[in-house]
Amino acid sequence: MGATAKRVHITTFGCQMNEYDSGRLAGLLAELGYERAEAPQEADLILVNTCSVRQRAEHKVYSLVGALKELKQRRPGLIIGVGGCVAQQEGQKLLDQIPHLDLVFGTGALERLPELLEEAGRGHRRALVDLPAAPARQPLRAPARAGLKALVTVMEGCDNFCSYCVVPHVRGRERSRPAAEVIAEAAGLTQAGAREITLLGQNVNSYRDPGEGLDFPGLLKRLCGLPQLTRLTFTTSHPKDLSFRLMEALAGLDKVMKKLHLPAQSGSDRVLKAMGRGYTRRQYLDKVEGLRRLVPGVALGGDIIVGFPGESEEDFEQSLELLELAGYDFLYSFKYSDRPFTRASRLSGKLSEEVKAQRLARLHARQNQLVLELHRSLAGQVVQVLVEGPAKKGAGLLTGRCQAGRAVNFPGPPELAGGLARVRIEEGLVNSLRGRLLPA
Ligand code: 5AD
Ligand code: SF4
Repeated sequence: MGATAKRVHITTFGCQMNEYDSGRLAGLLAELGYERAEAPQEADLILVNTCSVRQRAEHKVYSLVGALKELKQRRPGLIIGVGGCVAQQEGQKLLDQIPHLDLVFGTGALERLPELLEEAGRGHRRALVDLPAAPARQPLRAPARAGLKALVTVMEGCDNFCSYCVVPHVRGRERSRPAAEVIAEAAGLTQAGAREITLLGQNVNSYRDPGEGLDFPGLLKRLCGLPQLTRLTFTTSHPKDLSFRLMEALAGLDKVMKKLHLPAQSGSDRVLKAMGRGYTRRQYLDKVEGLRRLVPGVALGGDIIVGFPGESEEDFEQSLELLELAGYDFLYSFKYSDRPFTRASRLSGKLSEEVKAQRLARLHARQNQLVLELHRSLAGQVVQVLVEGPAKKGAGLLTGRCQAGRAVNFPGPPELAGGLARVRIEEGLVNSLRGRLLPA
């Protein structure tokens, strides 16, 4: 009998980009013979893929990795590594502060993990945090089986340097992957069973193939040619770069989901300026209007930061008002958080946690009212649902998403999972829609 395989446990914090990276890590480690461990206690290698976009996420990493100390003491052969944005930001500091940590790999060092592992095996602790200038990634070998939904990164990094944001500092400058590589990866995933693909990038609007110069709408069109693909969607779009061409692609390509994440960050011109976003409230709303004209029924998503340094009550009320004017289907909202290297962290006029928490609660309450109204107004519509499987709550209910990405629950047979169903919306709730199955 051969030796039992080594096992790896990966914990992922943060955005879909990190989820994607963790998938790559798992693939890379599978090639080195690692199997997946369900729990950290069963693992020979524990990796934590981290997020530093807000301070809370960073704290969570320190407490999680700190808590692994005991495990390491009991099993000295265990290797513990930290990757991702906190790794990039903190580098060697992490190794200095956490003595039981074996390796640190930054956002550009994913592919060099095998090298670090080998060194760690020899007792050499190291932090690798160089940011690559060009996309160094190989297409991910297609997994034998993929879930119904899969992620594909089309570009990494960001050149926008919004004044509050750590991303350009920890993920580096914008780099697009070659279209051929993106398409090959997506094709592999659909052959392995994926039906819906989400393309990822900090600002997909500025995607450009490094060779032939294909732009993002062009890439969408090519991907729609994959025969087994049912749905294609993408995130995130920077409002200043949202082009008419992209709106047209959203409207004209059947497989492209009718939803768009278009973070405004604030509804106040004064704050938008201090954030360095490159658009005014009017310009943002003009794009939203244009989009709604071209893509009727589109679901719009937004991000709002409350309590940016110097944000007055009036500024905040403008953000509240923006919710109404934009008509968001989904909203991610955050309390402003100081991040290292950023211009905003050096501004005066910081607000107390209490004020930020109150504003966030008011924003949530308003958005919940608005989205309930919006969802209720959808009653009677017939939508096409990509069925995911049985709903978590409610016996006999299936769950899936409509073409605009809204969660729809309806009674139906489990055999529908993985396919498309025609559903009439009967009731709108805050987080989902209830419907009835129609004959195909
Ligand atoms: N504080 C609070 N929220 C932030 N975001 C980015 N940086 C910060 C910060 N320093 C939010 C933005 C962005 C989302 C991913 O996280 O809204 O769109
Ligand atoms: Fe951060 Fe702005 Fe880039 Fe988004 S566009 S990743 S908020 S710097």
